[in-house]
Amino acid sequence: MSVLRAFAANIPCFKPTDTINTVADAFLSATYKNCLSVAVVNEHNQPVGMISRHQLNDIFLKKFGRDLFGERAVSDFMRKDVLAVDVDSSLSTAAAFISANMVFPLSEDFVLTENGCYLGMAAVLHLLSAMEKQISQSSAALNRAYKQLSSSQAQLVQSEKMAALGQMVAGVAHEINTPLGYVNNNIEMVREFFGQIQFIVQAHEQLSDTLLSPDTTDIDIAESLAALDDAKMDMDLTQWFVDLDALFNDTFYGVEQISELVTGLKDFSRLDQAVTDNVSLNDCIDSALLIARNTLKYKVEVIKQLGNIPKVRCTGSQINQVLLNLFTNAAQAVKEKGYLLIKTWSDASAVYVSVQDTGCGIPAENLSRIFDPFFTTKPVGEGTGLGLSITFKIIQQHGGSVRVVSEVGKGTRFVIALPLTQALSAAA
Ligand SMILES: Nc1ncnc2c1ncn2[C@@H]1O[C@H](COP(=O)(O)OP(=O)(O)OP(=O)(O)O)[C@@H](O)[C@H]1O
Ligand SMILES: [Mg+2]
Repeated sequence: MSVLRAFAANIPCFKPTDTINTVADAFLSATYKNCLSVAVVNEHNQPVGMISRHQLNDIFLKKFGRDLFGERAVSDFMRKDVLAVDVDSSLSTAAAFISANMVFPLSEDFVLTENGCYLGMAAVLHLLSAMEKQISQSSAALNRAYKQLSSSQAQLVQSEKMAALGQMVAGVAHEINTPLGYVNNNIEMVREFFGQIQFIVQAHEQLSDTLLSPDTTDIDIAESLAALDDAKMDMDLTQWFVDLDALFNDTFYGVEQISELVTGLKDFSRLDQAVTDNVSLNDCIDSALLIARNTLKYKVEVIKQLGNIPKVRCTGSQINQVLLNLFTNAAQAVKEKGYLLIKTWSDASAVYVSVQDTGCGIPAENLSRIFDPFFTTKPVGEGTGLGLSITFKIIQQHGGSVRVVSEVGKGTRFVIALPLTQALSAAA
């Protein structure tokens, strides 16, 4: 049911030929007590004009107003552009029409029509308060929607972080798996060798027992010697010991690699360090590179030109996340093989990190959008489009800036600047 129908007050209307006096008298009666204006309708009941209390006052306040004009037809004085709204209109259409056509001061009501015919009078004030109610309802709904949106965005950022963590963990797991594989193999081989040695030691023990026994015959000795020969199985023991030494070296190397990765992981996450610290960006680059090694190694050759830069007061784990994002993007932008050039330098006010790749580049029309949350050109499931928006936010929170230049087909360069305001010198 139309909202406006509830506004319709059943106020009798006038004919164009009714006199000003008739209308003025009507305004004084109880029926019209609350009316600011009334409608004038033609013989088909269609509104053709409106006249307001305010207009009548103007007429009667004139010298001899009632005598001069009282018997004149209302059509001579009425407002002809009727403020008429169809009863089926929406509140907002009605409000827009009334506010565009109403005359000030606010001294008129408006006419409600149904199929072009007079239905009743309605008050502008009622319309305004209904609109206000509607606006406050929709602003409450908007507020709710905004809150929902912020919370789902926070969830998405969280899941992006988890996805990045998942990728990182998978990369590191792969890196650990290789040395773990050959450490495992080596231990298998040592175990086999150990089995052989056990046989030989047993055969030796048996031979020495035979030799020491007073009842030993030559045949016994010959049998023990034959058993020892069998245990040796033509093994070149000297060569075996050389091999074993190499196996141990290899194994230690593998274990060292694994422990380097684990330390790298700890450095990357900086779990054991203060949240905000004086951090060397060169160290951050190394630890992010270690973590990204699996993503980078088949695609890009990494060239580092790291300057002697002062430490910066920052949240190292976040800077690591930024660098990992940039390195991952660079590797993803390179189709088959390319370069990743990482430079650092500083001036009196800031420390700079440049991450440049020889990947596909970013088209000019996308450059202004890459920092927007959810902007991605990668297939569903491969990119969420949150990497750079998180990067931007982190650098902004550190009071720094991110700049990007790119050429399609040539590559992309991101330059991050972190202010030195609270920096310590490298020597310190
Ligand atoms: N080094 C780069 N070379 C070419 N295009 C890039 C590079 N870095 C970013 N882009 C473009 O910017 C877009 C947004 O990057 P962003 O890191 O925010 O999201 P994503 O990499 O698509 O997804 P996510 O990081 O969430 O996995 C990318 O989809 C890509 O089109
Ligand atoms: Mg990314």
